[in-house]
Amino acid sequence: MLAEKWSPDSWRGKPALQLPAYNDEAQLRTVEQTLSGYPPLVFAGEARELTRQLGMAAEGKAFLLQGGDCAESFAEFTPNNIRDTFKVLLQMTVVLIYGASLPVVKVGRLAGQFAKPRSSDVERQGDRELPSYRGDIVNGIEFEAEARVPDPARMIQAYNQSAATMNLVRAFALGGFADLHQVNRWTQDFVRDDVFGRRYLELAERITEALDFMAACGVDASSSPHVREASVFTSHEGLLLPYEQALTRQDSLTGGWYGCSAHMLWIGDRTRQPDGAHVEFLRGVGNPIGLKCGPSLDPDELIRLIEILNPENTPGRLTLIARMGAGNVRTGLPPLIRAVEREGRKVVWSCDPMHGNTIKAATGFKTRQFDRILEEVRGFFEVHRAEGTYAGGVHFEMTGQHVTECTGGAHEITEDRLGDRYHTHCDPRLNANQALELAFLIAEMLKADRQRSGLQVAAE
Ligand code: PEP
Ligand code: CO
Repeated sequence: MLAEKWSPDSWRGKPALQLPAYNDEAQLRTVEQTLSGYPPLVFAGEARELTRQLGMAAEGKAFLLQGGDCAESFAEFTPNNIRDTFKVLLQMTVVLIYGASLPVVKVGRLAGQFAKPRSSDVERQGDRELPSYRGDIVNGIEFEAEARVPDPARMIQAYNQSAATMNLVRAFALGGFADLHQVNRWTQDFVRDDVFGRRYLELAERITEALDFMAACGVDASSSPHVREASVFTSHEGLLLPYEQALTRQDSLTGGWYGCSAHMLWIGDRTRQPDGAHVEFLRGVGNPIGLKCGPSLDPDELIRLIEILNPENTPGRLTLIARMGAGNVRTGLPPLIRAVEREGRKVVWSCDPMHGNTIKAATGFKTRQFDRILEEVRGFFEVHRAEGTYAGGVHFEMTGQHVTECTGGAHEITEDRLGDRYHTHCDPRLNANQALELAFLIAEMLKADRQRSGLQVAAE
């Protein structure tokens, strides 16, 4: 069957879920036109490089670490916030590389992660009901009628904030901050005295010794870009299609279309209908894309989606982000993996242990338990081991801040402490300690997998 012709606006002819209804059509058009004339935030060549690196993850030769805010916000736009998220990503990377002896592909949920799908169109507080908050790129979080009206001008602010965030991330990545010689300086003060903070500092010391040893042997690691620089890519959910369309550009080198709001865009669990607008838009851009796979996804439908989204079967083009929930992963994931294997489809399997494990605490806060998050990651690794496929990556909501949003972890945050520092604009995030702890536990799983496959190779 020949696919229908794609264009940056062909999604407009398809049913679209989760999009806001703007009151002022003329203002919306003006904003779209303004954004269409702005510089792209990423270059197509970078998106192709990320596809290449993810292609390695599809073959088990690299590991994807994707993480950051559930929702970025205009209010929390500060250099320290960006720096601290960046630090935690770097720390987790080092821990994973050390454990897995694999390159880690770093993708931030940042510089554009503003739009949120909601399970309900309305929010009720007491006897008042208002339209739901849909992320700062759409409306305001305050529980007031005026704030909840979708405002197209917010897209311009989100673009500007994304550009500034991206600029700082690039400066950190390339300007010396991410140099491996700085490995012992990425720890936050509040993590330093923690068990995993101490474990990290020991690891940092070993890395510093190894660099010193190499320098003493005459190998000048300081000049190697692999040591001096980090490559960090950006990603967000490709949800707000008017914004995404306005930032779509035709690549002058290849003539292909790219979504230039981020390197990687993913399709959420609520907007993955094969004949829907989001799938239509994303099938036509050349970026690496993600597809959230929740417990309601049927294996045949998954294959249909893969055929639409990656007809050429390009490794690295498609990352399947399983978010089954700790209780479902062992039963829900194998049928999906088997369908993909049966059809010979090349994908990166990544685990989002956040979105299937959200609960409401007795105190009313939305939270996630560290043990359930860890349990889903464990289940994900076990299933892949049993199926003979690769656990190719992880996807987290996390922050470098000292928040109290998820319970448990080595610090044993309890439900009654959630109110201490609960800052998220949407879902509960791992704090810097919990993120580092999880990285150490995942590194152990990766190491065990590597030793097992090493033994297998030796026995063959
Ligand atoms: C998210 O990643 O923030 C999200 C809403 O995920 P999902 O689509 O998997 O529910
Ligand atoms: Co979320």
